[in-house]
Amino acid sequence: MDTSAVTPDGRLREKLNAAVVFLGPPGAGKGTQAKELAKKYCVPHLSTGDMLRENIAAGTPLGVQAKPLMESGQLVPDSIILKMVAARIEKPDCSGGFVFDGFPRTVTQAQWLGELLKQHGFKQPVVVHFVIDPALLMRRITGRRMCKIGGEIYNIYERPPIVPNRCDSDGGELEQRPDDREEVVAPRLLAYEKQTAPLAAYFRRLGRLREVDAAKGVSEVSQRVLDIVRGAE
Ligand code: AP5
Repeated sequence: MDTSAVTPDGRLREKLNAAVVFLGPPGAGKGTQAKELAKKYCVPHLSTGDMLRENIAAGTPLGVQAKPLMESGQLVPDSIILKMVAARIEKPDCSGGFVFDGFPRTVTQAQWLGELLKQHGFKQPVVVHFVIDPALLMRRITGRRMCKIGGEIYNIYERPPIVPNRCDSDGGELEQRPDDREEVVAPRLLAYEKQTAPLAAYFRRLGRLREVDAAKGVSEVSQRVLDIVRGAE
């Protein structure tokens, strides 16, 4: 029997077989929820932000190009993102579906994704829109810390680790992302409003947008996300 079809406590794992997109401003909780949903369905969590940060850490030409843009809160050009996503989708672990976090971010990216999904035999994505009052985002963003080893997400105000500055899961050191500095938050939010927020209307027109109140606690948001994904045809 395929052991990936069974949970550690012996239950049959639910199948996703769909593309899920998490859309929302920086700090809305997309990464936190995407990790959880992807783990539940045993599918890849495709964060374009994480892919770019991996390229920066490895010093690739792509990373060198992306670094100054990310650190000043601007979007990375569509051409770079599309190449990166196309290569990732080809991998065999994507055959049962995936959870996008931070992609698409422009109308061009969204249109291209629609075509790519068709080519791979998927329907249009289920888009979960994280709706939140922007006033709550500064505290979430500047308080965020991430594990250097496993990328687990904490918040020094809202979700602190048990031992300060250490990951609960693997003991890794926690670090702050360079773009989480207070002075970069405003340009990131502006880029979101100008370039990404119009995607809500785009996916609403396609009948694929579902909203979640992202100001709620993590477990309430998780439940709503799960209800949306289970209810999507
Ligand atoms: P990316 O890495 O995608 O960042 P982002 O979209 O700005 O989103 P964040 O990671 O900041 O927030 P999140 O919504 O995931 O929140 P999280 O769950 O961590 O992009 C970074 C940069 O890369 C971009 O600016 C751009 O330059 C470039 N880039 C990436 N993709 C691109 C693309 N497609 N096109 C062009 N450029 C691209 O939560 C935040 C905090 O809140 C955490 O501390 C968490 O613990 C806490 N928290 C989460 N949920 C809750 C809750 N319900 N209650 C209380 N606290 C909570």
